[in-house]
Amino acid sequence: MIDISVKAGAAAKQRDDAVVLPLLEGRKLTASGSDLQQATGKTLTAFLRKFDISGSFGESGTLYDVEGSFTQRVMLIGAGDEKKLTLQSLRRLASKAARALNKGGARDVSFYLPELNVKGTTLGDKVQAVAEGVWLGLYTFNKYQTKKEENTRALRSVTIMVASRRDLEDAEAALLRARAVCSGTLFARDLGNEPGNVCTPEFLGEQALGLKHDKLKVTVMDKAAIEKAGFTALLAVNQGSAKEPRFIVLEYAGGKQGDAPVALVGKGLTFDAGGISIKPAAQMDEMKFDMCGAAAVLGIFKAAIELNLPLNLLGVIASTENLLGAAAYKPGDIVTSYKGVTIEVLNTDAEGRIILADALAYAAEQKPAEIIDFATLTGACVIALGFQASGLVGTSDKVKKGLKAAGDHAADRVWELPMYEEYQEQIKSEIADIKNTGGREAGTITAACFLSRFVDDIPWAHLDIAGTAWNMKGTDISPIGGTGAGVRLVTEYLLNRG
Ligand code: BES
Ligand code: MN
Ligand code: ZN
Repeated sequence: MIDISVKAGAAAKQRDDAVVLPLLEGRKLTASGSDLQQATGKTLTAFLRKFDISGSFGESGTLYDVEGSFTQRVMLIGAGDEKKLTLQSLRRLASKAARALNKGGARDVSFYLPELNVKGTTLGDKVQAVAEGVWLGLYTFNKYQTKKEENTRALRSVTIMVASRRDLEDAEAALLRARAVCSGTLFARDLGNEPGNVCTPEFLGEQALGLKHDKLKVTVMDKAAIEKAGFTALLAVNQGSAKEPRFIVLEYAGGKQGDAPVALVGKGLTFDAGGISIKPAAQMDEMKFDMCGAAAVLGIFKAAIELNLPLNLLGVIASTENLLGAAAYKPGDIVTSYKGVTIEVLNTDAEGRIILADALAYAAEQKPAEIIDFATLTGACVIALGFQASGLVGTSDKVKKGLKAAGDHAADRVWELPMYEEYQEQIKSEIADIKNTGGREAGTITAACFLSRFVDDIPWAHLDIAGTAWNMKGTDISPIGGTGAGVRLVTEYLLNRG
């Protein structure tokens, strides 16, 4: 992560490689742009006319060696209609500018983006969004590319400029939040992007142990410990794999002793071939991302530690591969879970809910205040919501409401699907307590119905991140690959929860 700091000062006085100024629709400069224009004898207006830069969102133009200013270049970035701006617009603009300057060879630059008016936000919100845009937008995962020249990074520091010195305290605090949230998000991206032959259940356990902190306790159970503890549903899915499973428990004690923790539960399927109900070959490689629920949990713990959040957290991750070895579990098998609930396996590819059965039951046993789980659980969720929102299903209106608000604020969005009692019919089994598929209809909801059998009466929300956890096109703030979905969302949620 490059260096980002905050400062107050006029654009004409900055001595770094570039200043980035917003330009509104209709070629309207904002405060610092007008200042610079005065200081430089109207060079900016002439430039705008000459190059026909209109200020529409995302467009940009760079002016070199502006007379009367000390900076090497002035980058104008189109912000469009100010009334339509959101915090996500700021993330996108900051990312665009940072990527362009990085490519163009600038090293130290100043961003005047927080002076844009964004409805219903504070200066801190805006500074945080700009910093997030820079850090998230510049992320790359190129450790396996042996020729790195093309990827060398020019950009060294970004200074986020605020209007006055009085703003600096809020801006500094916002920067701390952004740094924590981004380091958690980038950690989750890295874990997702690691290939399945590297990111194994054992590897996830080591990564959890790597999160060292005096308020954090991490326990990683190997196969023998899992057998002893009785996580039989996890073991059933693991039968087809040559690699050992792991059951990972994280306990962060940032709150009062004895205060019930918030439990975060993650699906850690390090590769999902579907098992005996094997998946088609096309895009099967993407199933290395089937551990992104676990990655989100680890990313949130990383952010929570850095923020020193004043609450207790319990993390539970069940991790295995879903393969087709000779001992693999089969369609028709009946699995008795840790909780004792029996599961008829109709499709070995609906394995996520099976391993989560044990993780959720264990979490519920610890009597947390609430449970939030993260899982790349259903293809149906990708059909319903595409890549723009995670599916949200759950029993607690309070938790769901908090997640919706946090998701909108952080632009790590969720959209609720209902869980009416009638849906439970679809997972009734003729010969066991429940079956692991509920048919094609409402697949995301019936998967959640399955999970609901393991959380007792603990307030619970389930996040299906199948469509959001990775992206094969790349977005304005994420390159192709893991996105770190869930980390911004739930870190924001926990910050609000206090
Ligand atoms: N990991 C997949 C879900 C998935 C599919 C996530 C595509 C992202 C993209 C999960 O284990 C799975 O295979 N689910 C099945 C369930 C079905 C057999 C009931 C699915 O969605 O097809
Ligand atoms: Mn599957
Ligand atoms: Zn899966």
